[in-house]
Amino acid sequence: MPTNQPHMRPYEEEYANFTWETSRKELGYKDGDVINIGEYCTDRICRQGKGDKLALIWEGHSGEEKRYTFNDMRQLTNTIADFLQKLGIQPGERVCLFMDKVPELYFGFLGVLKMGAIVQPLFSAFGSESLLTRLDNAKTRAIFTQKKHLPKVRNITKDLPELKHIIVVDDDGLKPLRELEVAFHMDKAERIDKFDIYPSLAETPSVLHYTSGTTGQPKGAQHVHYSIISQYITAKYVLDLKDDDIYWCTADPGWVTGTSYGIIGAWSNGVTQCVLDAGFKAETWYKFIEKHKISMWYSAPTAIRALMKEGNEVVKKFDLSSLRHLASVGEPLNAEAVIWSKEVFGLYFHDTFWQTETGCIVISNYPGMKIKPGSMGKPFPGIEATVVDLKTHEPIEKKGIVGMIALKPGWPSMVRTYWNNESTYKSKFSKGWYHCGDRASIDEDGYYWFVGRDDDVINTGGHLVGPFEIESALLEHPAVAESAVVGKPDPVNMEVVKAFITLKPGFNSDKMLELEIMNFVRKKLSALAMPQEIEFVDSLPKTRSGKIMRRVLRAKEWGEEIGDISTLENDM
Ligand code: PRX
Repeated sequence: MPTNQPHMRPYEEEYANFTWETSRKELGYKDGDVINIGEYCTDRICRQGKGDKLALIWEGHSGEEKRYTFNDMRQLTNTIADFLQKLGIQPGERVCLFMDKVPELYFGFLGVLKMGAIVQPLFSAFGSESLLTRLDNAKTRAIFTQKKHLPKVRNITKDLPELKHIIVVDDDGLKPLRELEVAFHMDKAERIDKFDIYPSLAETPSVLHYTSGTTGQPKGAQHVHYSIISQYITAKYVLDLKDDDIYWCTADPGWVTGTSYGIIGAWSNGVTQCVLDAGFKAETWYKFIEKHKISMWYSAPTAIRALMKEGNEVVKKFDLSSLRHLASVGEPLNAEAVIWSKEVFGLYFHDTFWQTETGCIVISNYPGMKIKPGSMGKPFPGIEATVVDLKTHEPIEKKGIVGMIALKPGWPSMVRTYWNNESTYKSKFSKGWYHCGDRASIDEDGYYWFVGRDDDVINTGGHLVGPFEIESALLEHPAVAESAVVGKPDPVNMEVVKAFITLKPGFNSDKMLELEIMNFVRKKLSALAMPQEIEFVDSLPKTRSGKIMRRVLRAKEWGEEIGDISTLENDM
């Protein structure tokens, strides 16, 4: 059983004395050295004598299990890197991973990095159009996928002239593959023991994660290999990972939590992690913890609320005594959920706040620190944070006043740019601070309290969806004249997507049409982006210059004050 003595010194002491040098030293990195995330998570751990230690315990939806040691992972990531090299993929080219949570996804991530390409993980539930937007933007060269997702890729191949290789990891040979498609079976392929890992440097691009904003299509947040300096030490200090921990990060590597902490954080610490490639069900999750004796569990508020809904009796059916530390990310973790977790697991969920752009946890509750349920905690040592005035962008000195969360640029895993979109990247900075786009206040004790997003981005079940992307998809439906998309409150997912639509002449606003439009968006984008409710209206609130005012619609949904509507053209 791992010790409960935290790695971190008491918070104030750690904050006062910490520098990133601690992490650099522990990882053996000096300025100018080669630094490759793939190497740091596999070969380096084997050199420490942990080659026979389990790296991954994987369970599929029908209960099948696969286990890989760090040495297996080292060799298999070499195999993938070698395979890509032989296909002709060049360093710096983009290789997409479009798979469920299968071992090939995890090892593919490190394999791509080992040969110097940029890895672009995309959530496998995305529909063809979501996929197209992101592959087109990145000019992706190759994509790893599974048979079940192949039709979505085939749908758009003709629109992606740069895409040269579609790698199918579970082809059964029953149907012939098409042009560009090639089968690759990781577990059957020859294991490569020695591979010349690409000599990436600190600023060499590593990961491209797409994230949604208020306007325009999703942006590719471009990270670099140096990000591991942040991810390693935050995994150690915040998630409190110890050598003998069995760790479970429930996030999908299609999103940043699933890579920063579902791959890099754990494995750079040489820790065994479990992956469950199955949908959510309380009993399945508890059984998984019991079976694998999971000690550290990193999850998300929506999942915790869903577990709460299932009640306390089901928890009692399982022996969850292996758990020793819990953390959460992605959305506000309400105080009730924190208190409930103490009641049923005997442990608090520790809220952590961060973003695709920050690459690592930046505000958090730390092991050993007093928890104020409902608060996100305090800045990570090494991170300078504040809240700034909404208008002047100056830091707010007075406690308890709501402002925008802002961070002093310069921590190792900070996003370096948005792919081909430097102007949007620059717009995130003001007066020397990076703006997260979230509102919060800081209390007398320095704890941060989340208030809400400062933009129109919708956070549904911990996943950000951009209203613009959904509105654009809606406009492609023949019946839709205009659309506006906002988040509406939801007890479990915090927010769900709601669309307001005006129809073209000749269409009737009935239930059939509502369902048809919902399905249309689900297929094009994803179930996450699908409106859970559609309200047909005669007109949408617009500014005099014709811009749809989503915030008026949103305020109505949340029962909030509408605020200044002096520029409103029409009344709803
Ligand atoms: O709005 C904040 C919310 O999720 C956003 C970042 O989303 P994404 O880039 O997809 O990364 C998610 C996982 C790191 C933030 O700007 N968010 C994240 N954590 C919290 C949160 N909102 C409230 N409390 C949190 N702990």
